[in-house]
Amino acid sequence: MAVRPILTWGDPRLKLNSADVDAWSPELDQLVVDLFETALDEEGVGLAAPQVGVNLNIAVIDCSCGEDPAQKLILINPEITKQEGSQIGPEGCLSIPGIHEVLERPKKVTIKTRRPDGTWTEICGEDLMARAFCHEVDHLRGRLFVEYFGPVKRQVIKRRYQKQHKPS
Ligand code: NI
Repeated sequence: MAVRPILTWGDPRLKLNSADVDAWSPELDQLVVDLFETALDEEGVGLAAPQVGVNLNIAVIDCSCGEDPAQKLILINPEITKQEGSQIGPEGCLSIPGIHEVLERPKKVTIKTRRPDGTWTEICGEDLMARAFCHEVDHLRGRLFVEYFGPVKRQVIKRRYQKQHKPS
């Protein structure tokens, strides 16, 4: 198991569209283990492969933050198939440490996702899990949550972020 370095806001690799997984491999098993480990280390709810520089459609989610192994979800080539309602609440991202902004997301989200063995399943999530589904699928499409805000607000957030992360 290894904690991998997380790419941060401004890295062009975070803006790439990731590729679908065709064949599963021991390397991908290791990637998934590392993603869980890295997310846990940073106390994040989820982490997508492109955030560690691997542009494949793989992400992990653990809404229990390491408390309950049964809540560990691996998303492979995930697609949102249904979304309902709305929730308004704070959102953050391990690639934009220190920034939390209120963002509207659907209340209930269903995703279709592949399993490592190649079969498919549908998972329905509400509240935090629905938010995580949207957030991680966005990463796989090269989108960060701050991109939902207009240019003025995004500039303000960027300045605040840069101030916080100024090398001292
Ligand atoms: Ni994120």
